Amino acid sequence: MDMTFFRNLPKAELHLHIEGTLEPELMFALAERNGIKLPYEDTEAIRRAYQFSNLQSFLDIYYAGAGVLQTSRDFYDLTWAYLERCKEDNVVHTEIFFDPQTHTDRGIAFETVLEGIDGALADARKKLGITSHLILSFLRHLPEESAFETLEAALPHKDRFIGVGLDSSEAGFPPEMFERVFEKARKAGLIPVAHAGEEGPPAYIHQALDLLKVARIDHGVRASEDPALMARLIKERMPLTVCPFSNVKLKVFERLADHNILSMLDAGACVTVNSDDPAYFGGYMNANFEGLARELNMTEAQARRLAANSFEASFLPEVEKRAWMAKALGEE
Ligand code: ADE
Ligand code: ZN
Repeated sequence: MDMTFFRNLPKAELHLHIEGTLEPELMFALAERNGIKLPYEDTEAIRRAYQFSNLQSFLDIYYAGAGVLQTSRDFYDLTWAYLERCKEDNVVHTEIFFDPQTHTDRGIAFETVLEGIDGALADARKKLGITSHLILSFLRHLPEESAFETLEAALPHKDRFIGVGLDSSEAGFPPEMFERVFEKARKAGLIPVAHAGEEGPPAYIHQALDLLKVARIDHGVRASEDPALMARLIKERMPLTVCPFSNVKLKVFERLADHNILSMLDAGACVTVNSDDPAYFGGYMNANFEGLARELNMTEAQARRLAANSFEASFLPEVEKRAWMAKALGEE
């Protein structure tokens, strides 16, 4: 396939952890600005350390890296760098996760984090024409009580984020542990989403749907092990925000050629392409599309449907969704 074809397609990114866009160069620059000594000699040493055996081995390095983020300006610079990459990849809309507990547990105020990220998003609307939403994600390896405290601290600012998510170590931390805090978030008008079926079993996807009442499943690739669940996801057009490069880096699939995203797409599932933590997993949106073209022989029609799904699955207003979907499908 001509690689310029999908580069030019308009796309939405729906599964992106802002802390996972911290490139080694920026990590060094922020460490220097904040007087922090990193346990790496140079950016090459950082890149060499990015060899992961599973989700947890990545999370340990990812949480340590986030330690260089201290001021609002740091969060602004991080977010702005990602938004410039969106512009390059023709990502016209993005829905970004942030993990407040990673920062508040280090003594950084919730407001410091939010102000920096939100400032960059506002500037991107004006200067780059990129629209966006923020999703506050709870760390599931921390107790329910910590999630409640985070929600309390965040609710006064709830006009600045659209939903809540659930991420971090999946196995052993089922969605049911967070049923009450999600209920409270939903009652406050926030849209629920959750990581499920990345490393965890299909039962976790059932719980995310039935107990957390999510509007999207993040990852969800293990749904294909449960035919009844797959049928339900297809029937309900429940979106799965799939992250191909991430799944290979974290050994969910051995090779990209083994990935199930296109078979789920062809079966009628509302799957989308996303980069998850692009600074750690080897590429942003278009690199993921390019990988699918190269390793799975993705066709132009499949690429168009993936791009259209990304708008269908977004939290954009219905008219904007429809307009972008028509563009992605080449109907106008
Ligand atoms: N936090 C950042 N990336 C993640 C992923 N892929 N799964 C769970 N938690 C995460
Ligand atoms: Zn993720």
